[in-house]
Amino acid sequence: MIQLPELPFSSKDLEPFISEKTLSFHYGKHHKTYVDKLNGLIEKTEYASTSLENIIRHSDGAIFNNAAQVWNHTFYWNCLAKPSNQKPSTELQKAITRDFGSIEEFTNTFSNSAIGLFGSGWCWLVISKDHKLSIVNTQNAQTPLTTDHTALLTCDVWEHAYYLDTQNSRPEYLKNFWAIVNWAFVSEQYQKHLEQYGNT
Ligand SMILES: [Fe+2]
Repeated sequence: MIQLPELPFSSKDLEPFISEKTLSFHYGKHHKTYVDKLNGLIEKTEYASTSLENIIRHSDGAIFNNAAQVWNHTFYWNCLAKPSNQKPSTELQKAITRDFGSIEEFTNTFSNSAIGLFGSGWCWLVISKDHKLSIVNTQNAQTPLTTDHTALLTCDVWEHAYYLDTQNSRPEYLKNFWAIVNWAFVSEQYQKHLEQYGNT
């Protein structure tokens, strides 16, 4: 049985950048529905008593889609926090500057990638085993979890993530996104990666 994780912030914490209304639909309806559908699909199957990550790595079709959407959304919520002018850790700032030129160039490239994604999906900052940072888009439920890359940051660019707040304007949503990125979480993922694969 897969559980819907608690949100790491309260329902008004992301305002005015993401409204309580968006959060109530996005978390309370969309994310919850992926969890409920997944539990219905895996009941009495080999996946019923395994981890979410394991399901994602070994399934396809509807089970994969719902499982990956559960994982992607949980990761997305962890990437967000109450606005507080957070910055990446010094180590992550150095890595971003090394691979993208500057923090500003990174955020611009990430935003352009997210805005340019056709249809529904996710934009990610990922890192390879040899510590190279890159920005990748995934369509629909696809996730870096099934690749050689480790996810550090994601932005959900399905319309349900922003339509109630910025209607059809994905660029406006991306602008808001940077005000609420939980850099402490992103930096922690970078640190964990270095610990797992060795320092540069
Ligand atoms: Fe979503």
